[in-house]
Amino acid sequence: MRVSSFYLTTPIYYASGEPHIGHAYSTILADVLARYRRRAGEDVLFLTGTDEHGQKIQEAAAAQGLGPLELCDLMAGRFEEAWRTLGISHDRFIRTTEAEHIAVVRAFLERLRENGFIYASEYTGWYSVGQERYFTEKEIGPDRVDPIAGGPVERIREKNWFFRMSLFQDRLIRHIEENPEWIVPRTRRNEVLGFLGQPLEDLSISRPRSRIHWGIPLPWDSDQVTYVWVDALINYVTASGAVDPAASPGERGFGDSPRPSRWPADLHLMGKDIITTHAVYWPTLLMGAGLPLPRKILAHGWWIVGDTKMSKSIGNVVDPLDLIDRFGTDAVRWYLMREMPTGQDASYTPERFLTRYDELRNIFGNLVHRTLSMIRRYRDGVVPHGRTDGLAPETSDAVAGYRRGLEGHRLHDGFAAAMDLARTANGYIETREPWTLARRSDGAEELDDTLATLAHTLATLASLFEPVAPRKARELAHRLGLYDVPGFDELAATDVRGMPVTVGPPLFPRVEP
Ligand code: MSP
Repeated sequence: MRVSSFYLTTPIYYASGEPHIGHAYSTILADVLARYRRRAGEDVLFLTGTDEHGQKIQEAAAAQGLGPLELCDLMAGRFEEAWRTLGISHDRFIRTTEAEHIAVVRAFLERLRENGFIYASEYTGWYSVGQERYFTEKEIGPDRVDPIAGGPVERIREKNWFFRMSLFQDRLIRHIEENPEWIVPRTRRNEVLGFLGQPLEDLSISRPRSRIHWGIPLPWDSDQVTYVWVDALINYVTASGAVDPAASPGERGFGDSPRPSRWPADLHLMGKDIITTHAVYWPTLLMGAGLPLPRKILAHGWWIVGDTKMSKSIGNVVDPLDLIDRFGTDAVRWYLMREMPTGQDASYTPERFLTRYDELRNIFGNLVHRTLSMIRRYRDGVVPHGRTDGLAPETSDAVAGYRRGLEGHRLHDGFAAAMDLARTANGYIETREPWTLARRSDGAEELDDTLATLAHTLATLASLFEPVAPRKARELAHRLGLYDVPGFDELAATDVRGMPVTVGPPLFPRVEP
């Protein structure tokens, strides 16, 4: 049997700042999808990492009295540590200062040049260090600020090398129109098409080294370093193994010499702030180099705090690690996935966080505790050999809704379906009244069926919750006497009857406010 494969990516994060809840959201979203795909039996490559070149890093390092690589080493470590704490299961953490990546970037640029898409020119424009990109006069408006974060822009006039992005405008528009699901959600697709309604300019791909020294020198002009966005986007190809920079120029993997690799990516995930670079710069660069386009681009919304944007300068950045200390990793993951409708903005508030935590505690956690306690009390802690199909139709509906949600990029709906199953199972306890059955002389068989059904439902819930709450799901599987959380295909064959269960402390303890 051929196992299907799935390659998904997060943005690589600037190594100039600490990881915050926005970065955590992108990464957890990717992690949930990676875990989901693995549970569905796919061979997953999940890539994340840090973006380590450019003016922003150069300046941040200088401000701290560090060398740029010193700062990057420090910050890459911080991101890796945060992802470990958050239970991120990436297969590869890439850093753009790695030798392999640098070689791939140079090979990629050389290929663009061989294909005739590179030229030198004088550039005059408005540059935002915050966004690491130029904006047009129209975009910066009369106040002359970057239109994304409102930060400063500077007037720059210098020699740059350019990529003939304009040549690919029609091909890109056609691709988007012919593949309506290529950019999701639809609002983002429309936004990109709107952007492409104007003539597409060529893309400046280099900066003079005299101004920015912290970057990858162009292979043919060592006085210029690669524009950080071009450098960064290529990371997705580096990690795929599609390009072999050590091979002779004709054999490197571009165009008519494809190499067996994970390219194209199945899914690029990112925030809506960087949709243009991913849905315009990146595909046109790939066209120029003769590589296939990624299969899907999913842009998610922004976390705002109350009703203001989260920003370092306002000082309202939510640190996910603080929440984790109090509520645990899985509660933070649950909140982020369940609260934000995938693709839309959502507002972080401590009250909503608590509401979502209570849902985990009072519905899911409570179901687990009640079920295991009753098995202990009424059946000496061993799941009885009753019928397990007492909630069969509800379970298959929930699993279908869950899979529709996760595959249709509506994770909040998928997890709502999982939580609904837990709610239904609590209702089932109320209607079956195991405590009454236990007292009745003719209640034994019905009690066996009830407890076996509930234990089986818990095994299903462990599987459904694993992508979002991996630690609690594994804990639950162990308490049910299972060695591990069953995969979706294994659920039908999973039989918990006869298993000794462990009640243990509540999965989601009460947290004092
Ligand atoms: N280095 C570039 C990406 C290069 S990818 C080839 C970059 N880095 S970043 O550190 O600024 O991180 C950007 C990503 O973090 C956003 O796309 C988004 O995924 C996430 N977020 C940062 N702040 C956010 C919120 N407040 N809310 C949700 N996500 C946001 O851009």
